[in-house]
Amino acid sequence: MLIHQIQFQTTGAPEVLRWVGSELPAPGPGEVRVRHRAIGVNFIDVYQRRGVYPVPLPATPGFEAAGVVEALGPGVEDLFPGQRVGYVDGPTGAYSEARNHPADRLIPLPDDLPDDEAAALLFKGLTAHMLVRRVWRPERGPWVLVHAAAGGVGRLLTRWLAQEGARVIGVVGSPLKVPEVQAEGAEEVLVVPAGGSYEGLAREVRRLTGELGVGTVFDSVGKASFAASLDSLAPFGLLASYGNASGPVPAVETAELGRRGSLALQRPSIFHHIADPRRLRSAAVELFEARAQDRVRACIHARFPLREAAEAHALLESRTTRGAIVLLP
Ligand SMILES: NC(=O)c1ccc[n+]([C@@H]2O[C@H](COP(=O)([O-])OP(=O)(O)OC[C@H]3O[C@@H](n4cnc5c(N)ncnc54)[C@H](OP(=O)(O)O)[C@@H]3O)[C@@H](O)[C@H]2O)c1
Repeated sequence: MLIHQIQFQTTGAPEVLRWVGSELPAPGPGEVRVRHRAIGVNFIDVYQRRGVYPVPLPATPGFEAAGVVEALGPGVEDLFPGQRVGYVDGPTGAYSEARNHPADRLIPLPDDLPDDEAAALLFKGLTAHMLVRRVWRPERGPWVLVHAAAGGVGRLLTRWLAQEGARVIGVVGSPLKVPEVQAEGAEEVLVVPAGGSYEGLAREVRRLTGELGVGTVFDSVGKASFAASLDSLAPFGLLASYGNASGPVPAVETAELGRRGSLALQRPSIFHHIADPRRLRSAAVELFEARAQDRVRACIHARFPLREAAEAHALLESRTTRGAIVLLP
């Protein structure tokens, strides 16, 4: 079957993303053909396009989509044609009109969750689920620091943590983003000065927390914010370094963590969180319950036609988005 998809043959700027025709074979054993209705754009797609996370070329980006089961491969029994499903993992290839995907990695979608909202919620929401349920420990202290708090993951995480009783300090790159982060429940929002210098951030965090520091930092910015994140922690605090939008984090000596106050450093990944198919589906059910209770809200900043994926990437890299970007086939 002929389909269209986005492909890059070399790594580089958003312009390397091209709209191409491609032959999609019938689904193999244990696979399902999914007709995509909405595709989530995630920062990991940018890392792969830039070559920061190498992938075999040519490659079609994308880890996340919502759609409809169109055909079942041999041996697939627990799904049916016409069923609405989503997914959040590789191999990459979600920037396509349709694709074949392992049946045991598909998540049945609730009827009241629209396709575009599912594509904005699944990858980022399951990341927030991991950070709230497996990484965060309230006993580390009431205060938490959330970087890129107006971003796709950041908004979901801020709201969920605040709903769980954490006192959230959000960090954003522009004053225009402050109202959204406050609306998600952040008690304080700090704006990184233009140019992106994180100098002075830890001083502000200490002032806001009565000189204590925060129990947990959720840092998806990486290189630029790493030192400020360590400096913002209370003794025995945890730096959860889960992304590197500004570049890879520098190496750190274990002894240095001790000198700075018996600190802990973790590098959590959604792919470990949901590696077990049963955990994938149970985590998705918990995410949908949290949505039904309004403890998390998917926020779509922009929708683009799939063939305009390059524009979507440029927008995500511009640091101006407040929420998720979704591609529509
Ligand atoms: N570990 C995992 O399993 C996992 C899973 C999903 C996502 N992530 C990570 O979570 C982060 C958020 O992903 P997302 O898709 O929701 O993206 P996003 O947060 O919507 O967009 C990235 C944000 O990072 C901030 N940023 C700071 N410095 C930047 C720079 N030099 N270049 C670009 N952005 C910069 C910007 O916000 P401000 O300007 O307001 O700071 C920007 O809006 C990414 O780092 C991603 O890799 C990790």
